[in-house]
Amino acid sequence: MLSKAVQTKLNEQIQKEAHASNAYLALATWAENKGLPNIAEYFYLASDDERSHMLQLYKYVNANGGSAQLKDSLGKVKDSFKTVLDVFKHVFDLEHGVTLSVNELATWCLQNNEHATFFFLQAFVQEQQDAERNVQEIITVIERMGFEDRNLFYLDKQFKKINQQTAAGGA
Ligand SMILES: [Fe+2]
Repeated sequence: MLSKAVQTKLNEQIQKEAHASNAYLALATWAENKGLPNIAEYFYLASDDERSHMLQLYKYVNANGGSAQLKDSLGKVKDSFKTVLDVFKHVFDLEHGVTLSVNELATWCLQNNEHATFFFLQAFVQEQQDAERNVQEIITVIERMGFEDRNLFYLDKQFKKINQQTAAGGA
């Protein structure tokens, strides 16, 4: 059974994952409006990914005698950017924010003897490390290709491959 305190912490993380899912949807809209369909698809997949993290936490709370809750208000998401590089720097900040909160939650679990939840969270810790590395690799590609209008077509094409890898489970 989960303590009230760990339930509160997990419900806060549920909220953050849902917020991240919404944030990625706003980025999908940005990419669609810029005529970058493969980058839009990347953000749709990322949004699904965040929703699946949210659901894993949600089900974990309910399966262990707790009450999972998702509040109505998920907070404002950023939807206006100057360049595709700005978009991916924002993605990095978004993922880094989630990393910090997952780490903080795992540390709290250890300090409060919530070992089962600490163990459960290790997949999230690993996932965040992978997410930050992947986004950093994309930022490097964008910086090398440049992001003038004429390069965006080719950059978008690169995401076809990235999306296929993601769909194949190699995020
Ligand atoms: Fe996540």
